Amino acid sequence: MNIEKIGIVGAGTMGTGIAQVAAASGFEVVLGDVKEEFLQKSLKTMDTSLSKLIEKGKVEEDKEKILSRIKTTMNLADLREVQIAIEAVFEDFEVKKKVLEEIDGLLPPEAILTSNTSSISITRLASLTSRPEKFMGMHFMNPVPLMALVELIKGMATSEDTFNQVKTLTEKMGKVPVEANDFPGFIANRILLPMINEAVYALMEGVGTAEAIDTVMKLGMNHPMGPLALADLIGLDVCLHIMEVLYEGFKDSKYRPCPLLKKMVDAGFLGRKTGKGFYDYEK
Ligand code: CAA
Repeated sequence: MNIEKIGIVGAGTMGTGIAQVAAASGFEVVLGDVKEEFLQKSLKTMDTSLSKLIEKGKVEEDKEKILSRIKTTMNLADLREVQIAIEAVFEDFEVKKKVLEEIDGLLPPEAILTSNTSSISITRLASLTSRPEKFMGMHFMNPVPLMALVELIKGMATSEDTFNQVKTLTEKMGKVPVEANDFPGFIANRILLPMINEAVYALMEGVGTAEAIDTVMKLGMNHPMGPLALADLIGLDVCLHIMEVLYEGFKDSKYRPCPLLKKMVDAGFLGRKTGKGFYDYEK
């Protein structure tokens, strides 16, 4: 199958980044979401990001030409013509279930369906669809236009052919695919989230201020940003959700979510997207 047209469902941070990278790599994109407002915001984000990347010489093609390859829609029936769909909706099993069942019913039978889930079992998601052999995980990193990695996760039934097609597509999108097995959190979040959670414990217990904790990890370990600033970038609700998936999945107390993380989510302090997390941001 020749992949020319990619469907992306969910125009949030991840869906927007994936759509931008796909279009900048020459693919036709159908980007779907439930509200026109979300789609407009997504296009604006892509416009700003592409301007920066073009200015820095990292993208060579004309911005308008790249954006012209993206069709936005509130009607998922527009996915009927794509060869592959990437689901990138809110990280919640019930939400993903509803959307995946809908996409599965609309896609042509030969099309591949993938999920950008950051931690939910690919095997479980695949079983919701009529095409488990054509289903797999395609986990991009935030911010998608800048991060090279895509974790590729096979479910129990994913065929070798599906995996190879998605691997080739990932490479054509200028990304580096790494295969991970279908265990809670895969590789990236199995390692990253316990580190972030521990940083929140350190803050809660007064081991250091947020600035001190982040500075230690930046200057002492050469991380590009500290774990608390990174949590704000990822979204504290997403971080908490991933910790809950790890805790539930392994039933091991080492993955218990930090009470301060829970409290911040309860307060609606979700990081950059709400203007407040471990740090304050201009909205
Ligand atoms: N598009 C284009 N340009 C962007 C951008 C985007 N989406 N986001 C940031 N930039 C630009 C900034 O505008 C800035 O440009 P200028 O230098 O011209 O001002 C440049 O990139 C560098 O940004 P900053 O100066 O703000 O900061 P930085 O040098 O630290 O780089 C970063 C930013 C690339 C995000 C870097 O801090 C980094 O790599 N951080 C770690 C990110 C990370 O770990 N991501 C994975 C999260 S986990 C995940 O995604 C999985 C999951 O399931 C939770």
